[in-house]
Amino acid sequence: MEQDFDLNQPEAIQNPFPMYEAMRRDAPVHWNASVKGWFLTRYFDVRMVLRDPRFSVEKMSPFANRMDGTKQEKIAFLAEILGGWMVFKDPPEHTKLRQVLQGAFMPKPLAAMRPNVETIAHEILDGLGDRTEIDLIQDFAVPLPATVIGDLCGVSRNKTHKLRLWADDIAKFVLQGRSTLDKYDVSYKALTECVAFYQELVADHRANPRDDLTTLMIDGGDVRKPMTDDEIVSTLVLILFAGHETTTNLIASGMFALLQNPDQMAKLEADRSLIPSAVEEFLRFEAPVATLVRIALEDVEIGGQHIKKGDRVFASLFSAAHDPEVFEGAKNVDIARRRNRHMAFGKGIHLCLGAPLARLEGQVAFEALFERYTDFTLRGDTLEWRDELITRGLHDLPISMHPRQ
Ligand code: HEM
Repeated sequence: MEQDFDLNQPEAIQNPFPMYEAMRRDAPVHWNASVKGWFLTRYFDVRMVLRDPRFSVEKMSPFANRMDGTKQEKIAFLAEILGGWMVFKDPPEHTKLRQVLQGAFMPKPLAAMRPNVETIAHEILDGLGDRTEIDLIQDFAVPLPATVIGDLCGVSRNKTHKLRLWADDIAKFVLQGRSTLDKYDVSYKALTECVAFYQELVADHRANPRDDLTTLMIDGGDVRKPMTDDEIVSTLVLILFAGHETTTNLIASGMFALLQNPDQMAKLEADRSLIPSAVEEFLRFEAPVATLVRIALEDVEIGGQHIKKGDRVFASLFSAAHDPEVFEGAKNVDIARRRNRHMAFGKGIHLCLGAPLARLEGQVAFEALFERYTDFTLRGDTLEWRDELITRGLHDLPISMHPRQ
């Protein structure tokens, strides 16, 4: 009989390694009652599903239809905005939206962003003053991506704090956090405010074009296919959601991995040219986006299991990243790992659009931290991971550090 892998039990979040190892070994493709869908844990199965057009990402409208009447109105609004996200659209709609934005994340515009990202990182660290004890998440890993995204989209700096709050609350709906019973109300309120804010932002950009992502969408990018206001607003919310918590998790989980592995910390201290490969290893080891969801458009056979049309399929990026068939010493953090073929940014047509920016932010974050501080130490030993299946990140990361002389 197949084991019952309960993904809702706290250990599955706090220490997922043993359960995922058992799943890869004993039931790499199995129907998982706790998430009511197929759960895929091996690298090659996960990769295959993400590349295969027989699996759809359009899961918002079926979801809204399943909800009961009282919640339906709020869910319908959430689903309308989120349903406009390219990450929830199959071709051809997906192709059009993606083409418009693609140019903004090419090497040249990205290289031009680096000095600004560096300035932001240093400004945040300047703001810490003499403090040597901080919560790395709230004090650094949250404000950095929020400010970068704000600048990218043309949001004025004095509004950045609002972006952070909205991103947090919208995440409660999208990420299926199980402990938040009022998640629809909270997300609905945040999304209503955020949409109104972005509508004004778009109107202002139409009147006063600037050199940023919002104006690029109004103009239609290199392909000259202008987007409608609704499409732009929806995409601005997506960028905020997709680029915020994920990058926060990358920075915090990366630091946590170093704190847990003093030999790797020492190696990075000794040779900071390893930062780019260290960032890749952090992406692999803790997978800021842990699970992706797809819907089967037809019956498909995977790993000897018969997946039926309409079934939900959960592809575990976290588990794929620890598959010993692909990664030598998969259980170890190795900041100098070569040929790191992790799929932290997904695979196939939905491959993360912001990946080059996320990498840049991750690298700049560690460069700035190591340039200014040393002796990073964990304060306290009871860290908690967020109760989320889709993303993976710590609630807080209290550390102490010493300024370099
Ligand atoms: C460490 C940080 C990040 C991680 C781990 C990450 C991960 C991912 C993953 C796994 C996907 C694929 C989703 C799927 O296939 O269903 C994705 C899509 C996407 N990401 Fe990221 N992301 C990060 C940062 C960013 C940033 C900084 C931005 C933008 C500023 C961004 C924008 C997007 C967009 C627009 C998509 C949708 C692409 C599409 O559907 O074609 N992401 N991301």
